[in-house]
Amino acid sequence: MNKIIYLDAAATALKPEAVISAESDFLRNRYANSGRGICARATAVDDMVLQVRKRIANFINADTAQVVFTSGATDGLNRIVNIVSGQTWYSEKSIVAVSDLDHHSARLPWVELLSRGKIQKILLCELDENLDIKIDSVPKTDFLVITAMSNVLGRPQDVGAIISAARAKNPNVVTIVDASQYVVHEKIDVKKWDCDFMVFSGHKIGTDTGIGILYIRDTEKYRPDKFGGGMVLKVSDSDLILNNSPEKWEAGTLPLTQISGVIPAIDYMETNRPDMNLIRFAYDELSNISRVKIITSRNANILSFNIDGMHPLDVGALLGANNICVRVGNMCAAWIHKYLGINGSVRISVGPWNTMDEMQYVTKVIKGIAK
Ligand code: ALA
Repeated sequence: MNKIIYLDAAATALKPEAVISAESDFLRNRYANSGRGICARATAVDDMVLQVRKRIANFINADTAQVVFTSGATDGLNRIVNIVSGQTWYSEKSIVAVSDLDHHSARLPWVELLSRGKIQKILLCELDENLDIKIDSVPKTDFLVITAMSNVLGRPQDVGAIISAARAKNPNVVTIVDASQYVVHEKIDVKKWDCDFMVFSGHKIGTDTGIGILYIRDTEKYRPDKFGGGMVLKVSDSDLILNNSPEKWEAGTLPLTQISGVIPAIDYMETNRPDMNLIRFAYDELSNISRVKIITSRNANILSFNIDGMHPLDVGALLGANNICVRVGNMCAAWIHKYLGINGSVRISVGPWNTMDEMQYVTKVIKGIAK
């Protein structure tokens, strides 16, 4: 096979034609700023932003005022920490609970606060024998970070049950869900989860990079973390009157080109979820090869593994030499690798563009490397 086999959907998705057309049509024919103009072209962009926001609200079961555009999941997760720690009621005695499933972007902003003495401590939710968050290990905490699906393990977590367990111990706990991987495979329902915040990135669901979604349940509970154009109703030299949500969270110009690609991306994803039979096929082919050590379960949405005696980077380089793109290393998820006693792994993740023929070829190559 000479063409590239792209097995790195979990890092970023290839873009459906409908998204490319929508984004290039916007750039070519409809470009203007939003929230700032009164000519027909500008108000058409306002309408586009509104329609996209409604589509996302419907997609995650939220209200449009609760859907905020960011530049990505990392931006959203950092902003949440800045929002909560910037409130007058925020206490430096706060306790935060996390889990070893977290991506660096979900936990590092809290580690930074800890290093500056701005939180009291970080507690850990334990993992069970399937590497899922143990519901009864969720501690009493002020803030809880939940990775809805690890980017290394690919298993959906029972987010609603985890949040209920945390609320039983502290009814005022603020819950933050990182749904960056989950959104590709499972339906998000923020009302059912009853979370305070939720984030995901656009590029993993098929838009260009540079856009993320931040859901905020109690939009009136917090002052914003960013200030600038579009988020105020009235200013004076010493005061400002905020716009309503979502505008009060969106200082500055929005990532409009990426916004123009969101509806086709969601439409495409909802009807073309990646085929997990490809992952199960790879699992079955590789699980009886003695040098291949699989760290994911058969029903996971991705397949992560190591080859005994080889560094994951070397495995990745050999696969690359065979035109196969995978992700290798700690995948910005150092904690789960440490938990498993390894430095890194090799990850296969699939999108709607991958085929069984490709997976047959890939497993043959991996078997050859592990011989
Ligand atoms: N967090 C992305 C990944 O898992 C980039 O590859």
